[in-house]
Amino acid sequence: MKDGSQTKTILRALAGEVLPSPPIWMMRQAGRYLPEYRATRAEAGDFLSLCYKPDLAAEVTLQPIRRYGFDAAILFADILLVPQALGADLWFVTGEGPRLSTITEQRDFDALKSVADIHETLNPIYETVRILNRELPEETTLIGFAGAPWTVATYMIAGQGTPDQAPAHALMKANTQLFEALLDRITEATIEYLSAQIDAGAEVVKIFDSWAGSLKGDAFERYAVAPTKRITAEIKTRHPAIPVIGFPREAGDGYVGFAKATGVDCVALDNSVSTDWAAKHVQVDGCVQGNLASSHMVTGGQPLVDETRAIVRAFSNGPHIFNLGHGITPDADPENVQLMIDTVRSAGV
Ligand code: CP3
Repeated sequence: MKDGSQTKTILRALAGEVLPSPPIWMMRQAGRYLPEYRATRAEAGDFLSLCYKPDLAAEVTLQPIRRYGFDAAILFADILLVPQALGADLWFVTGEGPRLSTITEQRDFDALKSVADIHETLNPIYETVRILNRELPEETTLIGFAGAPWTVATYMIAGQGTPDQAPAHALMKANTQLFEALLDRITEATIEYLSAQIDAGAEVVKIFDSWAGSLKGDAFERYAVAPTKRITAEIKTRHPAIPVIGFPREAGDGYVGFAKATGVDCVALDNSVSTDWAAKHVQVDGCVQGNLASSHMVTGGQPLVDETRAIVRAFSNGPHIFNLGHGITPDADPENVQLMIDTVRSAGV
């Protein structure tokens, strides 16, 4: 791993330091809003080929770092590569999103590969990490990631994104044993996948639970908190120095105590929670990341500036990494990203 960790602002914030202005990166910072991304994606042919071509995946990871100088780079890949590595069919329909073979009964589960076999598919991703580890500027932190088991399971069960995750909830009720076996398999694969990313040079890992918001009460504890806790504990055993960011998106009250319950070093906030509330109830336990609405990257102007300043101010008494509440969208204006960065860096609390 590169030296220079003392100067890496993201690692300092994750260790609990309150910095004069928060370090910044952006979910989906490598993406279709950037013309240079669209050009490299065209060169790769399609999205999955881009993920599996280490030189090109590293190139798109570096593009937003070159253009904006973000404090972190996030590995370019996708949460659905783990299902693919476990043997699911995966393809992307342009304009619609991912499609996978479904898991609805025991024999679908029995056909999955074992955890030990995932690296055959995922080796190119580790190569991307190694390239990035060599090529990133000294001050830039490299973030690896995976989907949380519940979120990944929702796609594996339904075979596509679903607005309310109904097929996954239905399987949870109809065949709890199969549902939990699937979650366990994904959890174990995720531990191996993140661990291999860290061995290749990832300095932080983030667990995306994009659909955590549809789990309530006991189900939230069992299927969002517990798997993130298990993954985090195992990562910390194998790699004690590596910080973990958790993102239980739309968890609402579930954000309270999430860091303590799971052991993550930082909780990423979506923009449905108010900053004052989150400062009081979530940041009290440590670093938070977030949470500007990504729509500001489309609309820009004074509202972007005002809201960015308000977020910086609200979180200024504790460790904070500035980010969006969710990924930037393809219709965003690259100039608004620059405006956000300039505002964060000059916000002076
Ligand atoms: O943030 C980054 O820049 C790193 C790369 C990254 C991607 N996906 C690239 C991507 C990361 C961290 C993800 C995570 C991911 N993927 C999540 C969790 C975060 C979230 O958004 O809630 C989920 C649910 C997925 C699954 C996925 N991948 C969907 C539903 C889609 C289609 C929707 C869409 O935006 O088109 C993807 C495709 C995808 N993943 C794209 C990118 C840049 C767009 C693909 C393209 O270029 O056509």
